Amino acid sequence: MPKYAKNQPAGFKNTIERVAIVGAGGTIGSHITDALLKTGKHTVTALSRKDSSNKLPQGVAVAPVDYNDETTIVAALKDQQFLIITMAPTAPRDTHSKLVHAAAKAGVPYIMPNGYGGDIDNVKLGEDTLLGPVAKANRDEIERLGMQWVTVCCGFWYDYSLAGGEARFGFDFGRRSLTVYDDGNTKMPTSTLAQVGRAVAKVLSLDELPEDENDKRLTLSTFLNRGVYVKSFVVSQNDMFESVKRVTSTTDSDWTIVHEDTRKRYEDGLALVKVGNMTGFGKMLYARAFYPDERSDLSEKAGAHNKLLGLLDEDLDESTRAGIDLVKELQLRVERMAS
Ligand SMILES: NC(=O)c1ccc[n+]([C@@H]2O[C@H](COP(=O)([O-])OP(=O)(O)OC[C@H]3O[C@@H](n4cnc5c(N)ncnc54)[C@H](OP(=O)(O)O)[C@@H]3O)[C@@H](O)[C@H]2O)c1
Repeated sequence: MPKYAKNQPAGFKNTIERVAIVGAGGTIGSHITDALLKTGKHTVTALSRKDSSNKLPQGVAVAPVDYNDETTIVAALKDQQFLIITMAPTAPRDTHSKLVHAAAKAGVPYIMPNGYGGDIDNVKLGEDTLLGPVAKANRDEIERLGMQWVTVCCGFWYDYSLAGGEARFGFDFGRRSLTVYDDGNTKMPTSTLAQVGRAVAKVLSLDELPEDENDKRLTLSTFLNRGVYVKSFVVSQNDMFESVKRVTSTTDSDWTIVHEDTRKRYEDGLALVKVGNMTGFGKMLYARAFYPDERSDLSEKAGAHNKLLGLLDEDLDESTRAGIDLVKELQLRVERMAS
């Protein structure tokens, strides 16, 4: 049954004011937090491990949690209207579920689960990259416990994936080398970290519910139990390389270039993952998404949602510069980047 603001109890405010976030100091969480705070419409509470050394953005309230003590998570989530989970993929597998159960106990109605990847409707791609069934199970659990989800489908993060080493978009800036997948012409919708942050802030700044059955405006409820699709631009590795050369004032002769078949690369990466070597994961994931005939293409849906939310495409060279600025920072995150 659709819910309308007019039917809510007295005192109902049709806005999302209180947002809790896990990972406020992390790769994507820091951008989401910044964008939320910039709107001036939300108080943001960061759920953070008691012993965390992650730096949290200024302006957030901090709620220390212990994932082995549910009461700390439930207490941190009391009165929150929306929980955003941006949890390291290296966290123990049951941590997401612990958060979701605690959110149900605290009465949080909406959750943005971990994900921030490809099109959730592309089941085959999700299965081949092993991420789909995990994300689906997370979403199902939220529904089973009586809550609703909004998940972000943004493709690979452009700046992060450019900077994050050879296993991702093929660039190794330290060695000035590039692994080109197939002929390098396969186009890929991709989003900068900042664009994902803006998309989440836009969605959470919408009214929560339509006033009544005649109210056709976009509201948060439009996106419940659905993906929010977003992109910055659609580019191939060759487009990225042209941009990198412009930004770094280099030419082909400054770079060592090798070509690899995406199918072979996918199989090699998967074989490593199967024996527990997670260094194969990124290789497998990115190679699969770049299959020329079965590529990950959420551009149409992302174009439509960008328009609805008022998000503009971004400048490729500026985003490339932002990626190159990230290289050193990501090199310091050895464990996280190896997985
Ligand atoms: N589209 C893409 O290109 C792309 C790329 C990478 C990741 N992703 C997805 O984005 C999501 C978030 O990734 P991220 O890179 O933003 O995460 P991250 O920065 O590595 O970590 C986010 C937060 O997780 C918490 N955390 C770290 N280790 C933990 C542990 N052992 N137990 C519990 N909490 C722990 C930390 O928060 P506290 O220290 O405050 O507790 C940390 O700030 C994942 O779902 C991932 O699959 C997408």
